[in-house]
Amino acid sequence: MIGLGPRTETLLASVFALAGNGEVKVTAICDLQDERIAKILGILESHGAEKPAVYKNYRELIASPDVDAVLVPTSWNSHLPIACDAMRMGKYVGIEVGGAASVEELWQLVHASESTGVSCMMLENCCYGRNELLVLNMVRRGMFGELIHCACGYEHDLSEMACTIESGHERAIHNLRRNADLYPTHGLGPIAKILRINRGNRFLSLTSTASKARGFASFAEEKGWKGTQGNRVFNEGDVITTVIRCANGETITMTHSVSLPRPYSRDGRVQGTKGIWMEDTGGIYVHGISPCYEKLDVAGNPYLVHEWNKTSDFYEEYDHPIWKECRNNPVGGHGGMDSLALRAFFDAVRRRSVTPIDVYDCAAWMSVTCLSEQSIATGSMPVAFPDFTNGKWISRRPEIPSRWSLNEIYGECFPA
Ligand SMILES: NC(=O)c1ccc[n+]([C@@H]2O[C@H](COP(=O)([O-])OP(=O)(O)OC[C@H]3O[C@@H](n4cnc5c(N)ncnc54)[C@H](O)[C@@H]3O)[C@@H](O)[C@H]2O)c1
Repeated sequence: MIGLGPRTETLLASVFALAGNGEVKVTAICDLQDERIAKILGILESHGAEKPAVYKNYRELIASPDVDAVLVPTSWNSHLPIACDAMRMGKYVGIEVGGAASVEELWQLVHASESTGVSCMMLENCCYGRNELLVLNMVRRGMFGELIHCACGYEHDLSEMACTIESGHERAIHNLRRNADLYPTHGLGPIAKILRINRGNRFLSLTSTASKARGFASFAEEKGWKGTQGNRVFNEGDVITTVIRCANGETITMTHSVSLPRPYSRDGRVQGTKGIWMEDTGGIYVHGISPCYEKLDVAGNPYLVHEWNKTSDFYEEYDHPIWKECRNNPVGGHGGMDSLALRAFFDAVRRRSVTPIDVYDCAAWMSVTCLSEQSIATGSMPVAFPDFTNGKWISRRPEIPSRWSLNEIYGECFPA
């Protein structure tokens, strides 16, 4: 494990659950800071884990023969250089979520994976969320008809970052200096899989627009924060709205908002010719299944009324088979989806197969950050997505069936 911040503490809860089954062992850890190393060693010891090798230079860790694969929960700017170096040492890489600084570093990632044959997976836990997999399952069964429009986002009040610049918090510094959809993948990852991006479909272009930026400054003022930056206007707009067009004609609207008070949401919406899921209503409407009836208006003319089902109404029958197995006893962080993403990664490592979120997915999803930055900087001009697959998306070789696939649901991988 390279990078031992708070995220690693959460990841360890899932790792311990899997270590109990003998699926995984932490053989080496690395951080630049002694106090982080000491904290994680303490957690490992309190769980009776064998003491791992300790490094401050990740290059030494990735050279170790005791390491089959590395998890990279460092802060954003270091994910991709570390991933490239690790793949060149033949190690599978699981990078934590985040966006890219440039298109160039994404090409380097793609080339590192293609030239070594080693996989890089973004550990996008939300792809294994119960509702996201439920909707994937229902879409693949045709219940939503032909897909037309999706939405997603990351709306999470993190305005306390206004007061963490001085402590060197990297995420806060990105919000201070940049103006972009900085955290696209929690929402976009599941939607991209549902839309078969990089397998017969791809992101073509985007436009992004930023609102004014007041949230961080307002929080700092409310707290009476006397830091050097907290009461400045941050560059990051409070609400960033991005519209993506896909090769097959679907549109995706994305919202990034981390500086205003509001309940958490990933804004999920998947809409087709026959059905719709909307995360924020907690509802699904499927034509022919959900309530739909005729009423008469005051003039006696008939009109149709459509009513939502609760999303949970569909769990019993349409939960993804992974969730049918674990729904009574999910383990690990974020309601169980962390450990599912990790198991998917470790399964590919063991079989030396391509990870279910592959390097092309990482590149396409992460590119939204630097492309939206470019669009905002040029007055919301459209920006074209690079085709990181170099044409493979047009007629992609079928994948090897796996229970962890996010493209298809392979019944044969779930024997009754
Ligand atoms: N998937 C999720 O649900 C989820 C939740 C929280 C955070 N995250 C992601 O996890 C990552 C880490 O989050 P965090 O809050 O722990 O971040 P953090 O910045 O607090 O901690 C990162 C750690 O990495 C270390 N580090 C940085 N560069 C390094 C290098 N070159 N070599 C070794 N160590 C290095 C830092 O010293 C620090 O201890 C981020 O990408 C974040 O977006 C994901």
